Amino acid sequence: MPQIFTASADTWLRAMLLLAVLVICAGILLIGGYMDSSYATLVGWVRDQPVPFSHEHHVRGLGIDCRYCHTSVEIGPQAGLPATHICMTCHSQVWTGAPMLAPVRESLAKDTPLQWHRVARVPDYVYFNHSIHIARGVPCVTCHGRVDQMPLLARAEPFQMQWCLDCHRNPAPNLRPPDQVTRMDWSDWDNHPEQHKEYGALMVKAYGIEPSKLDDCSICHR
Ligand code: HEC
Ligand code: HEC
Ligand code: HEC
Ligand code: HEC
Ligand code: HEC
Repeated sequence: MPQIFTASADTWLRAMLLLAVLVICAGILLIGGYMDSSYATLVGWVRDQPVPFSHEHHVRGLGIDCRYCHTSVEIGPQAGLPATHICMTCHSQVWTGAPMLAPVRESLAKDTPLQWHRVARVPDYVYFNHSIHIARGVPCVTCHGRVDQMPLLARAEPFQMQWCLDCHRNPAPNLRPPDQVTRMDWSDWDNHPEQHKEYGALMVKAYGIEPSKLDDCSICHR
């Protein structure tokens, strides 16, 4: 029998196979890197808004509580974005003529809501509910970061499934007194672990939270 594949063809074949394997590995690494990167998770990215609303100014500077504007955060699935008249309780008196606020005045005059561009959202097939998290004392800052330091709002956490699951499987360290959820700075609490170590574990018992069931698919995919 004459040899169909010469020795050198065999070497080529091996080299091609090796290359193919390398390309596939590189591809997997690239996709993995992309999924974790801020491009995919949108962490830290701000968006153009109809009005350059500053949480830093209104929350930290003026001391307005989150619930003044996000009125349904304690009672419903959605936190809710503020209706124009909420801005106007103040802006009919301060900065009344400011060009920056023209879209707000126009929205009130025409009775059409401002079209904010969302930065914090999960896909439609995921069920999320604010009220239960607030009732159990998961603070806003855990999921949304230091919004009081954001002149323009950006997403603070990746909102990927793994992120939700990490807390659902061990919620105790994230629980705080529910009447304090809108507080942004917890450094005094975090700096006294000896005082607060027991709190989360006690609350998990008191609320009857069952971490072993909180990662059931049907909790978030209904
Ligand atoms: C409780 C009162 C209050 C409410 C409610 C309020 N603002 Fe303001 N806002 C202020 C004050 C006071 C200033 C700043 C004046 C200054 O610079 O000292 C301000 C400033 C601003 C500015 C100028 C840029 C800046 O941040 O300095 C914009 C834009 C603005 N507000 C938009 C809004 C929008 C949009 C809403 C509704 C979602 C809103 N505000 C609700 C009191 C309020
Ligand atoms: C004076 C009104 C006001 C107050 C007080 C306020 N917000 Fe907001 N918030 C807004 C407005 C207006 C938007 C939409 C524009 C933007 O994204 O900046 C918004 C957007 C957000 C978003 C992004 C929603 C999305 O998907 O785009 C988050 C998260 C948020 N606020 C959290 C908070 C938290 C946490 C607090 C309290 C620490 C707070 N806000 C206090 C008015 C307010
Ligand atoms: C356990 C994490 C978690 C906590 C705690 C939390 N949020 Fe959210 N928030 C989310 C997620 C996830 C979304 C996206 C929901 C969606 O796309 O339906 C969101 C969306 C929002 C939005 C967008 C608009 C809307 O109607 O939902 C606002 C505003 C907001 N959150 C404010 C708050 C405020 C204020 C608090 C504290 C009082 C808070 N959130 C606490 C995870 C959280
Ligand atoms: C920092 C902690 C934390 C994070 C992050 C978190 N959760 Fe939760 N979640 C909780 C706690 C605590 C409860 C209350 C469980 C209870 O009372 O049984 C809860 C409850 C829920 C419930 C209601 C369960 C029920 O029995 O009705 C849903 C739905 C939910 N979470 C969805 C999500 C989704 C989706 C995400 C991610 C986008 C998320 N959660 C992120 C802590 C968290
Ligand atoms: C605590 C909430 C939560 C639970 C429990 C949960 N998921 Fe998810 N899931 C999410 C979120 C949030 C996303 C959106 C991820 C994103 O946008 O990157 C998601 C996305 C997905 C996707 C889309 C592909 C992907 O990975 O992005 C699939 C498939 C999925 N989940 C399957 C499941 C299965 C199967 C279970 C049960 C073993 C489960 N999930 C339990 C929150 C949850």
